[in-house]
Amino acid sequence: MTENQPRTFPADFLWGSATAAYQIEGAAAEDGRTPSIWDTFSRTPGKVYEGHTGDVACDHYHRWQDDLDLMAELGLEAYRFSVSWPRVQPTGRGPAVQRGLDFYRALTDGLLERGITPALTLYHWDLPQELEDAGGWPVRETAERFAEYARIVGEALGDRVKMWTTLNEPFCSAFLGYGSGVHAPGRTEPESVLKAAHHLNLAHGLATQVLREVLPRDAAIGITLNPAVVRPHTDSPEDRDAARRIDALQTRIFSDPVLHGAYPADLRQDTAAVSDWSFVRDGDEAAIHQPLDFLGINYYNPVVASAPSGSDVVARNDGHGSGEHSPWVGSEQVEFQMLTAERTDMGWPIDASGLTDVLLRFSREVPQLPLYITENGAAFDDKMDGSGAVHDPNRVAYLRDHLSAALDALEQGVDLRGYFLWSLLDNFEWAYGYSKRFGVVHVDFETLKRTPKSSARWYSELVRSGSLPDRD
Ligand code: FCB
Repeated sequence: MTENQPRTFPADFLWGSATAAYQIEGAAAEDGRTPSIWDTFSRTPGKVYEGHTGDVACDHYHRWQDDLDLMAELGLEAYRFSVSWPRVQPTGRGPAVQRGLDFYRALTDGLLERGITPALTLYHWDLPQELEDAGGWPVRETAERFAEYARIVGEALGDRVKMWTTLNEPFCSAFLGYGSGVHAPGRTEPESVLKAAHHLNLAHGLATQVLREVLPRDAAIGITLNPAVVRPHTDSPEDRDAARRIDALQTRIFSDPVLHGAYPADLRQDTAAVSDWSFVRDGDEAAIHQPLDFLGINYYNPVVASAPSGSDVVARNDGHGSGEHSPWVGSEQVEFQMLTAERTDMGWPIDASGLTDVLLRFSREVPQLPLYITENGAAFDDKMDGSGAVHDPNRVAYLRDHLSAALDALEQGVDLRGYFLWSLLDNFEWAYGYSKRFGVVHVDFETLKRTPKSSARWYSELVRSGSLPDRD
């Protein structure tokens, strides 16, 4: 490649941004919505930074038209959003609430009117509290309830949404929700992690079958995973084994049954002391293994795993929060090294090469399956200057490096179809509340005013030109 030559993406590459319902909507008790596990968790003292909740968030529920105008102004081509389960089916059972469905009908119509492709995620972590009260994801029935909810949303929006994702990052739902407890519902039960992972996989499989029944034939169905990009600290067999264990727990526990129809044997072995896996019934793996139209990949950073050092204090630089309980069921003693100096405001190391690696991995593993980057982005401590502008050159640099890494993958033949930047707006960053800003649009959480940062302008220009400028 010639120096200073812009590098170009395929003409039909889909450029979007991503958000999730609980992180932006607010209106938590409006129009029939009942609490989800995140409403309960954020109200539990000590769980979320300074007791922040999603009660108001970005108030997107009332300001969605302005937000859509903003996307259109920036020239974004697609929008990945999630549907709040307790907004459309409050108890997680039975009939839908029309007002909830109407909101998403209006939202998707508004997107289409502006020429923006809606990309819908059914589950971005907001389980109706009543289903958690009945046992949550460790209970098999939750998967069946999810399929019923998928039918409701599929029937209501199938005429206007062509891109469907069942689950976002089931790893976080299972391992952070039921293992380390840093996410809702905050349980710390090793065997429940494995049960939750299985029932999330089953939920994906059952919902995919239902969506195939109710959606028009041209609808695309996929799942979004956050595969571990895990590197062994050294080439020693012990460090390589540590990396293998983490890969099994974060990635293959989902990707193997979803893409290949069976749980990995090494995972079952690594976790044998925790569970006999009798919760997997005959036929489940086949039910999970449904033909898919795309795989969504979320990427933020790689991790470096090493063998247990024998120290009592296990290094937990695994990027998944600092709860007292390890999420790494059966491999709790694996340690994580922090080698990269440059970090985002989350403390996550900045290393774009991991994005190329994860895209190449899945491109080799499932060559026929189109890939999308469904999330990528960075939190920085952005400040508004005296003139009311927000300059975020560090985010621009992060995005440029990662898009360059995506181009490296494309140039090596990866069937990468699009990129959804996390996130459109600063929003409720789960256990970190509003203290971490991921948006390309700044949100003042007092006034709720939106101000595009310089990264939004940069991204907008990239979308318009389709080529990656060498410099800002
Ligand atoms: C991902 C989540 C998303 C957001 C980003 C920073 O794990 O899917 O909601 O919080 O991390």
